[in-house]
Amino acid sequence: MKILVTGGAGYIGSHTCVELLDEGYEVVIVDNLYNASKKVIRRIPQITGKNVGFYEADIRDYSQMSHIMNKEQPDAVIHFAGLKAVGESVEKPLAYYENNISGTLTLCKAMQESGCKNIIFSSSATVYGNPAVVPITEQCPKGACTNPYGWTKHMLEQILTDIQKADPDWNVILLRYFNPIGAHKSGLIGEDPKGIPNNLLPYVTQVAIGKHPYVRVFGNDYETPDGTGVRDYIHVVDLAKGHVKAIDKIKEHPGIKIYNLGTGKGYSVLEVIGAFSKACGKEIPYRIMERRAGDIAICYSDATLAKKELGWEAQFDLLDMCRDSWRWQSTNPDGYGEE
Ligand code: NAD
Ligand code: UFG
Repeated sequence: MKILVTGGAGYIGSHTCVELLDEGYEVVIVDNLYNASKKVIRRIPQITGKNVGFYEADIRDYSQMSHIMNKEQPDAVIHFAGLKAVGESVEKPLAYYENNISGTLTLCKAMQESGCKNIIFSSSATVYGNPAVVPITEQCPKGACTNPYGWTKHMLEQILTDIQKADPDWNVILLRYFNPIGAHKSGLIGEDPKGIPNNLLPYVTQVAIGKHPYVRVFGNDYETPDGTGVRDYIHVVDLAKGHVKAIDKIKEHPGIKIYNLGTGKGYSVLEVIGAFSKACGKEIPYRIMERRAGDIAICYSDATLAKKELGWEAQFDLLDMCRDSWRWQSTNPDGYGEE
């Protein structure tokens, strides 16, 4: 079975390609390398001992996508490609709507015309907005997003739902990720943010290697046990395995399905810093700062539906995630570096 992976050179995509290859799938990546390194394309075979197909192409380019879909004839598409920086999306809404929405429409058009109607889409817990209750189940109503990035996920979920409703030959699985962190145990692939990281874990790892003096903790006056924000951190390899299970599900012709991919447990910013200190064997300095605009206090999943219907649940704990992030960061202090 052949799987086409858009954005497969990126952080979550590369880990998913490794798991797919390990499970015996044929994998073809389409990535424009906007936020990825070509080195990933060499490291995936290094880890798995298997070849991976690669097209340096933009999903917004219909003629290229049509050519690739017709030539490769994949059985399913896992669609990761997109822009994902929350703050940047507020500055550049047009770029985000154009890349994420137009790109997905073009991809779906090329899929439809080539006869491939199976898609797994990277959505996000951000679609829940500020959840009324935690843990968050898939039935929890979607909320108002606080930024254009979040709205692209919200809208794309609707667009894919409508495509499937109009043509029941389509199978659409929307995966709502919580907070992916960690890296492959080989230390060969991991997260490589450009510039100063916005997300907590990459910032903590950069403090650990001395690129920043301390972690800025955004607020300690939330209604949480220690006052800092609580999130459902999930090991990227667990998340990647969730996609392999979603491929199994799509073979059953399920129509439209939505699953949370999280661990079901929440950890505070201070707990993450504590776990990371343990993993890297040194104290991580931090300072309490003002709250960050747009942040919510608590967000963690109810992960029971994915367990029941996909037979998937996360295996790694917070210390595993920190240990693997540290291995990646300490052996690749500049990420993938220059080509
Ligand atoms: P990433 O930036 O590492 O990967 C995205 C990949 O898509 C990159 O390799 C980039 O070069 C590629 N890309 C972007 N636009 C493209 C285009 N027009 N054509 C072809 N390739 C293009 O991000 P990631 O963290 O691996 O996230 C993957 C997906 O998961 C994204 O859709 C993201 O929104 C979603 N997601 C991520 C998180 C997270 O915290 N990392 C959480 C929820 C959802
Ligand atoms: N935080 C800090 N200091 C930092 C960065 C973050 O204290 O330098 C705190 C935040 O205030 C929050 C927690 O750490 O309480 C996690 O913040 P992240 O930025 O790592 O993650 P978010 O939960 O804010 O958002 C992420 C992605 C979104 C996605 C969401 C749910 O950035 O795109 O997870 O999947 F929608």
